[in-house]
Amino acid sequence: MTHSGKTYVLTGVSSGVGAAVAADLAARGARVIGIDRVEPKAAVAGFYRCDLTDPAQIDATVAAISGPIDGLVNIAGVPGSLPVETVVKVNYLAVRRMTEALLPRLSDFGAVVNVASTAGANWRARADLVRSLIAVEGWEAGLKHFLGFGFSSVQAYDVSKEAVILYSMLVSSRERHRGVRVNTVSPGAVQTPILATFYDTMGADLLTRLRTQAGGRDARPEEMAGPIAFLLSRDAQWVNGIDLIADGGAEVSLTLEGLACPAKTLAF
Ligand code: NAI
Repeated sequence: MTHSGKTYVLTGVSSGVGAAVAADLAARGARVIGIDRVEPKAAVAGFYRCDLTDPAQIDATVAAISGPIDGLVNIAGVPGSLPVETVVKVNYLAVRRMTEALLPRLSDFGAVVNVASTAGANWRARADLVRSLIAVEGWEAGLKHFLGFGFSSVQAYDVSKEAVILYSMLVSSRERHRGVRVNTVSPGAVQTPILATFYDTMGADLLTRLRTQAGGRDARPEEMAGPIAFLLSRDAQWVNGIDLIADGGAEVSLTLEGLACPAKTLAF
């Protein structure tokens, strides 16, 4: 997987998964341009402060980024403890706006990787609803349509991630003719600052069960970097429009409830 000389735009670079992915891609030789509302602690090649709840700031940021771009990784996200509007804007509408703006600008054989979540794994069960969400174009119309369902913030988190998965599939064919791909990575629980909130909003019972199935711990942020680096690379040339679940096998406990044995405690 060569990333040498590549330029990648990453949102959410100042914490957790985003910081780990930025460090990993830089170590692989890439130039990382970060976007976040707070300054990153580690150095990146370029940084734009941007509040992703504000479409005008997103547009200004995208316009300010010049030169060839080989990949876009939308990582920024907020948990279901925040107001529904914030959850929808950051987790879905901003991902969509960034993708719409940068997808046509990506170099040939470039890639978009949008970070969803295993919390969005249920999209097949309400595909009609999620399809109706992604059918609505534009920030204001999309927001109005989403809010019209009256979801709680916790529900909105799950649905926002379902929408990211389906939206990414929807646009995966747009620039396919020149080798540009769009995929999602869905992490299970990851040891980052928002994880404690997930234990509150999603329930400690469920997350403990998932953690047990995965071998007794949640993922380290850097364990999300490999799957993302793979999807950005030419090694993934024939991988397009998919959701790559990176949860250490935790979801098996939901799919094969009562049948699957949890992993032994991890030795790594
Ligand atoms: P984090 O809280 O450590 O990092 C989130 C980053 O997004 C921060 O740098 C924050 O400043 C940025 N951000 C939040 N709101 C923003 C806004 N309005 N404008 C600009 N930047 C903003 O969280 P973590 O865990 O690194 O999350 C990364 C992604 O992974 C999110 O999309 C999250 O939903 C997803 N995820 C995380 C899981 C976990 O257990 N930590 C599990 C599954 C998915």
